Amino acid sequence: MVALKKGTEIELVVENLSFGGKGLARVNNFVIFVERTIPGQRVLVRITRKKSSYAEARVLALLEDAPQAISPRCIHFGTCGGCLWQNLPYEEQLKVKRDMVWECLAHIGGLAHDVVLPALPSPQIYYYRNKMEYSFAARRWLSQEEIDHNQLQKPRNFALGLHVKGFYDRVLDIEECHLQSPLSVAILKRVRQFALNSGLPPYNSLDHTGFWRFLVVRDSKHTGQILVELITAPDLNRSSPIEELASILLAEIPEITTIIHGVSEKKAQIASADTQEEISGPGYIEERLGDFHFRISSGAFFQTNSEVGKILLDQVQAGCALTGREVVWDLYCGTGTMAIGVANDARSVVGFELAEEALADAGINARLNNVDNCEFVLGDLKGLLDDLSFLVERYGSPDVVVTDPPRAGMHPSVIKQLADLAPPRIVSVSCNPATLARDVKMLMEKYHLLRVQPVDMFPHTPHIETVAILERK
Ligand SMILES: C[S@@+](CC[C@H](N)C(=O)[O-])C[C@H]1O[C@@H](n2cnc3c(N)ncnc32)[C@H](O)[C@@H]1O
Repeated sequence: MVALKKGTEIELVVENLSFGGKGLARVNNFVIFVERTIPGQRVLVRITRKKSSYAEARVLALLEDAPQAISPRCIHFGTCGGCLWQNLPYEEQLKVKRDMVWECLAHIGGLAHDVVLPALPSPQIYYYRNKMEYSFAARRWLSQEEIDHNQLQKPRNFALGLHVKGFYDRVLDIEECHLQSPLSVAILKRVRQFALNSGLPPYNSLDHTGFWRFLVVRDSKHTGQILVELITAPDLNRSSPIEELASILLAEIPEITTIIHGVSEKKAQIASADTQEEISGPGYIEERLGDFHFRISSGAFFQTNSEVGKILLDQVQAGCALTGREVVWDLYCGTGTMAIGVANDARSVVGFELAEEALADAGINARLNNVDNCEFVLGDLKGLLDDLSFLVERYGSPDVVVTDPPRAGMHPSVIKQLADLAPPRIVSVSCNPATLARDVKMLMEKYHLLRVQPVDMFPHTPHIETVAILERK
């Protein structure tokens, strides 16, 4: 047997996919995770990391493709950090994702009975995203061809596109992307051309210099409205070309309804502005989920795939099983999507949210949808729930709690307070099966997990959304 250590080159056949999306192969029962592979592929790999119970490896050559493999649509497939599974048939992606949810619940959550339903598909598997965040970078990811022929196809010190997985300072200059609308790519290309000729440098995340930082495109699937946010570093010389770029964009791409200039002084590479100026338009877009109408400001969270957002809302409505008499609490309510979506079937609803911009949208959204039994509370749930008796007195004891935390899951203190509150029913929405499993485990003493419905918000990626229904014992 080959002694496995960092640098060892070895031939493997990938057996299945692990949580997070890596292929899993075995050598004498020793597990090796291989980036960017699918089951059935025979690959030559190099071990990049060796631990006592597993190793990680990078593909050097694809020796034989999987029988089930299909042709990926995108020219960037294999390099871009966006899609990992364009070569895996969609039905297979759904099966793998369902199984991953169950594995997390069994291994992390300690559940004994598989209550995970088959994953509901996304009606559209391409062009489904209503939001994309592109990064500027002072280091462009070079193609293998450029490296092999030592010939650059474009400047190496400028890129606008998506990060290559594992390289936070390098960006792949995106020429095509099939996850948002073609208009979004047209905006990307026009902004890149302008920025490249502007004489102002892109942001360098190593020394924190440069001007151009992020381009965010929000693209409503139902109203056709498009919001463009250009995020830059502060304009120290007061020579910002943003107004000129905005005029060009509006003239050449008239579908754009709002342009915002955001300024960020954050060192962290997150596409979120410290201050914003509306250059053109109302500063938000509107989107529909079924019959509901939502206004979304540039910084507020909204379900990324609008079609699947509607399916998710249907699942939440069904999971709440409301009769019109119940008090509902919606934790992490964002722009009020779930709260407003269940309000017509409830006595009253109260939403809790940390982000001021999202909460302001939630109030407006309630009025837009003629909902008058919803209230929204601003604050960090870790702390807000400390005074449960006050909240219960003020808003009523909840019959149902809907919770939809960010990827990190609920803070342990929030779970504990939720368990103390002990509503008869919890509808737990999650975009991370691992934290869902951890959170559910903490509730198992008091609750039965009735079912978990995976909903595929993000085709071609390993991500999966779930709606779990818990009933008090
Ligand atoms: C996954 S989103 C869910 C939004 C909403 N349920 C929806 O369907 O659009 C999570 C939301 O939690 C909010 N959030 C994050 N941390 C929070 C905290 N500690 N307390 C309250 N809200 C928080 C975020 O601002 C975001 O709007």
